Amino acid sequence: MRGDQTAAWQSLSELAKAFSGFDLRSAFAQDASRAQHFSQEAPGVFADLSKNHWHAEVESQLLALAEQAGVFEHRRRMFQGEAINNTENRAVMHWLLRHPAEGAAADALPSALQTPLKDVHETLSAMLVFAEKIRSDTAITDVVNIGIGGSDLGPQMAVMALQSYAIQGKRFHFVSNVDGHELDAVLQTLKPENTLFLVASKTFTTLETMTNALSAKRWFDAQGGTNVSRHFAALTTNVEAAGQFGIQTCFGFWDWVGGRYSLWSAIGLPLAIAIGAENFRSFLAGAHAMDQHFQHADAAHNLPVRLGLLDVWYRNFLHYTSRCIAPYHSALKRFAPYLQQLEMESNGKQVDQAGQALPFATSPVLWGEPGTNGQHAFFQMLHQGTDVVPLEFVAVKNATHALPDHQALLLSNVLAQAQALMVGKSDAGGHKNFPGNRPSTFILLEDLSPFNMGALIALQEHRVFVSGAVWGINSFDQWGVELGKVLAKDIHARILSCDVEGLDASTAQLLRRIT
Ligand code: F6P
Repeated sequence: MRGDQTAAWQSLSELAKAFSGFDLRSAFAQDASRAQHFSQEAPGVFADLSKNHWHAEVESQLLALAEQAGVFEHRRRMFQGEAINNTENRAVMHWLLRHPAEGAAADALPSALQTPLKDVHETLSAMLVFAEKIRSDTAITDVVNIGIGGSDLGPQMAVMALQSYAIQGKRFHFVSNVDGHELDAVLQTLKPENTLFLVASKTFTTLETMTNALSAKRWFDAQGGTNVSRHFAALTTNVEAAGQFGIQTCFGFWDWVGGRYSLWSAIGLPLAIAIGAENFRSFLAGAHAMDQHFQHADAAHNLPVRLGLLDVWYRNFLHYTSRCIAPYHSALKRFAPYLQQLEMESNGKQVDQAGQALPFATSPVLWGEPGTNGQHAFFQMLHQGTDVVPLEFVAVKNATHALPDHQALLLSNVLAQAQALMVGKSDAGGHKNFPGNRPSTFILLEDLSPFNMGALIALQEHRVFVSGAVWGINSFDQWGVELGKVLAKDIHARILSCDVEGLDASTAQLLRRIT
C-alpha cells in the first residue's frame, strides 16, 4: 500500500499538526535519554539523530508507516533479486556486487542468484588483477576516467575520499563534461605512453562520454600513441559497443546495476587502481556489512530505515524542501554531488510505480559543501534564514595528516555548529538573535577507511530505498533525463544548419545568437 494510503500516514498528519510547538531544547530538557534513544552504532558509522525534529511517538508511527507501506516486503524483494525496477523490468542487485562469494551469506542466496554471484566474482577478480597490474606498471602515471553521472560521480568521490590510501606516483583525472575545456585541460598534461584511459559507461551510448572518448582516442593517435589495448579499457554492460569502438580490454557489469549504484562494479576500477585490491575488497566488505545491517537489524535500530523514515517525516509532514550535507573532511569534497544523484535521480519522481500522479512531495533538494568552508558562506542562512534546512554532518574522528592543532579545531567546529543550530542565542535580539531549534543529524566515522566509506555509501543507498518505498515510487529508473537528451539532438542538428523553423521564440532567438 502506498504510504499516503495507510493509517500511519493519517496519524503522522495529526502528529504534525501538533508539532509546531516542538522545541529541541525542551525535548532534551524533558528526556534525559533522548541522545541515547536517537543514537546508534551501525557498521562503520555512529549516528546521532537526536537533534532532529521528532520524538518517540513520531518515530513509532514512522515505523508503523514503513510496515504498512510494505517497505520491508519491498526490501525482501530487492534482496531476492525480483524485478522491482518495474518500468525497465529489471532486478536491483547492486548489493550483490559486494556479496561474499562463499560462506553462510552466499549459501543463503536464492539459487537463481548463484550464477550472477559467480559472474560478479569472476569479473571482480579479473578487474582486481588488472588494477594491480596497472599499479605496478610505473610507466602508467595517469589514469583518466571518462564517464558521466554514475560512471563519474561515484569513482571520483571515492578516489578523493580514500586519497590517503592511494598509490603514490599516479594521477587520477575525471572527465565528464562534454564541454571540451575539461578534456582539453587534462590532455595538455598527458603523454600517450604514460596514460590509461578508462571509458566508463553502463550503456556505452551516452553522448558526453562517447564524444570525450572519441576525442581522447583521436588525441592518442595524433600524439603517436600505440597499443590501444594497453592504453584504453572499457567499463560497461555493452561489451559489443566497446568492441566496435575499438576497445578490446573490457570489464563488464549487468543491467541490474543502476548507473548511480555502480561504484561497486567495474565502474569502481579507478578506485581499485588507486587503493589496490585488498583495500577495494575492504570497501566492498564495509558495504556488505551495511547490507546485512539493513536486512537484519530490527527496524527501530536499523540506521537506513530510521534515516529514510526521518526523510519522509521532514518532506511530507514538516514540509522541509532540502537537506544540506556538510562533511567535515576535505576528502569528502565530492560527497554532496554524489548524494545529489543518488537521491534526486532515484526519488525525484512525480508518479508511483503504477504511473499514478502522487499527491505528495518526493525527493528533497540535496546540496552541500565541506565544513568549515560552508560556515563562511551559506551557514548564515541555515542559522538565521526563514527556511528550516535539516543538516547532515559527517565527521571523521582520526586525521591522517600530522599537522598539529587542525583536527581538534575542525572537530570543535562541527560540534559547535550542530550545537549552535540547536541552542541558538536569544539574549541579544534583533540581528544578533539566533532562533536555534534547527535540526541536524550527526554521522561520525572513526577513520575515513575503505571499510567505513563502503558502509557510509551503502547506508545512503538504503535510506534512499526506504523513502522511495514509502512513497511507492520506482527509485531505480530515470526517465526524467530522457527529454533533454532527445531535444539536444534536435538542437545540435539545428545549430549546424542554423535552422530555427518551428522553435519557440526564446529558443529561436538564443540559437540565432550562437550560430
Ligand atoms: O542521464 C542519466 C544517466 O543515465 C545516469 O543515470 C547515468 O549514471 C548516466 O546517465 C551515465 O550513463 P552511462 O553510464 O550509461 O554512460
